[in-house]
Amino acid sequence: MARLDVTEKFQGISFPGHLHTKDSLEFAVSFLFKDTDVLIVSYPKSGTTWMQEIVTLVSSRGDPQFSRTVPNWARAPWLEHYYCVAVLEASSPERRIITTHLPYHLLGPALQGSKAKVIYVSRNPKDVAVSFYHFHKIANFLPEPGSFHEFLDHFLEGTLYYGSWFDHIKGWTSHTEAINNLLHITYEQMSLDLHGTIKKVSSFLQCPLVEDEVNNCVKHSSFSSMRDNNMINYTLVPKDIMDHSKGSFMRKGEIGDWKNMFTEEQNQYFESVFTSKMQGSFLIFVYLI
Ligand code: A3P
Repeated sequence: MARLDVTEKFQGISFPGHLHTKDSLEFAVSFLFKDTDVLIVSYPKSGTTWMQEIVTLVSSRGDPQFSRTVPNWARAPWLEHYYCVAVLEASSPERRIITTHLPYHLLGPALQGSKAKVIYVSRNPKDVAVSFYHFHKIANFLPEPGSFHEFLDHFLEGTLYYGSWFDHIKGWTSHTEAINNLLHITYEQMSLDLHGTIKKVSSFLQCPLVEDEVNNCVKHSSFSSMRDNNMINYTLVPKDIMDHSKGSFMRKGEIGDWKNMFTEEQNQYFESVFTSKMQGSFLIFVYLI
């Protein structure tokens, strides 16, 4: 199995070599979706793991048993990771929950005409950048982030692993005509109204829940509950892959943490790049908080 070398790219984008192979990426981009599939799509650090937990809980009507006994990568595997084929073969649930960080231009063609339900999760890119910066410090499979200033430049240039945030969001949110079922949820919505978000997700998945079940989903997908669940907080991952002595995956879980990290100059530069790259996008107002 040929792992991607650190210097190698797939379609111009770098992916961590310990999880991705050329074959696994080829498998993802030509995947045959079933109409019953649920696909969670996000740029890293946008609330992916949170949505995996929400979808798992909604599917089990608020019962936390499954999410407390099976790691998130086995119940909602990343399509582009090398182990995905084996996970999908080993389990045959009525509804497959699949996750991806791939941009639209790579995965969109495989979804054309499919009735699979897509949940796109996005987050204020300033908070994404801060979260991703801290994650680079604990994730040994990612390059050293350098100073925050240097990291922010790479983020804005789109040269980090997984590619450009701007391409990702614009790709996934501007092709809704090609994807039959797409629900766009922001991290901010989840944070400000978790109850309402869970109801929205359950209705999108046509999995109506009674109030007690919604409340159980809320309880088990709260930051504190997920932080203490080792099936989702990544403490099961070996230290050479993720070093939790340097920080936690479940780090802060807040909106607006960028304000503790950005200088005024960095903020102005970020906004100018954001405005020029997102020109014409209706999404601008959602994040500038
Ligand atoms: P922070 O680093 O800002 O704390 P992803 O799963 O896409 O990698 O995103 C990880 C980010 O989502 C981290 O952000 C993590 O703390 C946050 N997160 C995960 N579960 C959460 C929850 N239940 N409530 C709030 N934030 C959550």
